[in-house]
Amino acid sequence: MKIRIFRTEEQLADALARCVVQHLQEQPKLVLGLPTGRTPLPLYRALVARHAKGESDYSNVDTFNLDEFVGIAPSHPGSYRSYMSEHLFRHVNVSRRRTHFLDGQAKDLDAECARFEDRILRAGGIDLQILGIGENGHIGFNEPAAELSPWSHLVKLTLASRRANAGFFGGKLTDVPKEALSMGMSTIMHARSIVLMATGKRKAEIIAKTVSGAITTRIPASLLQLHSKVEILLDEDAASKLRSEGVVTSRGGRVHER
Ligand code: PGA
Repeated sequence: MKIRIFRTEEQLADALARCVVQHLQEQPKLVLGLPTGRTPLPLYRALVARHAKGESDYSNVDTFNLDEFVGIAPSHPGSYRSYMSEHLFRHVNVSRRRTHFLDGQAKDLDAECARFEDRILRAGGIDLQILGIGENGHIGFNEPAAELSPWSHLVKLTLASRRANAGFFGGKLTDVPKEALSMGMSTIMHARSIVLMATGKRKAEIIAKTVSGAITTRIPASLLQLHSKVEILLDEDAASKLRSEGVVTSRGGRVHER
């Protein structure tokens, strides 16, 4: 794992946006896996700003979002499709038919998960998967459990995850759906490269466990230790519980190799 630590979340976002744009320039048919939540908002702002400056072309890009709520329409303001449209897609020249979501309104949710996995395969697999992390160590909606599901699947959301999403539903916990569809751990681990971003003090504890703790299904993000191409991008706050040995300073943030 390569860990890069930035002074602020804006610096982190700008470094990652630069990296995504570089990928796009080298590989116009890039297949991107994308997260939602509060953490990636500065990244999406930075990508939109770079696109406005003419640095990027998304016309041949495919995107796959990590997860989506069950039972709400794509046009619902709390859906992840709405989030992506508001924060990224409507600002860049990505084709709507190339932006892929699990359909939480599908009649047969198992068949929908299989369709989504097949769509990823047909796109050639995910080149770059960007992730956030929950305070409990979840990635996507793969919540801590004795067993994890490998592929896209139906998830019963924990109260913690529903609370964390209440902001997208006007602050009303009762309006947050109780279920979601999520990529599974194998879906994520099959990405050719993975970047996990975390900011703020409330992520410090779980980041220390994810990076240096045991590999366990009780901390789904710890499984990333098994992937050969993972970068963890942190601000100073999220990095504050990492042991400091091995941290060196370099351009674009302090780098900590494990
Ligand atoms: P957050 O969520 O970015 O809103 O903290 C991250 C996640 O739960 O994956």
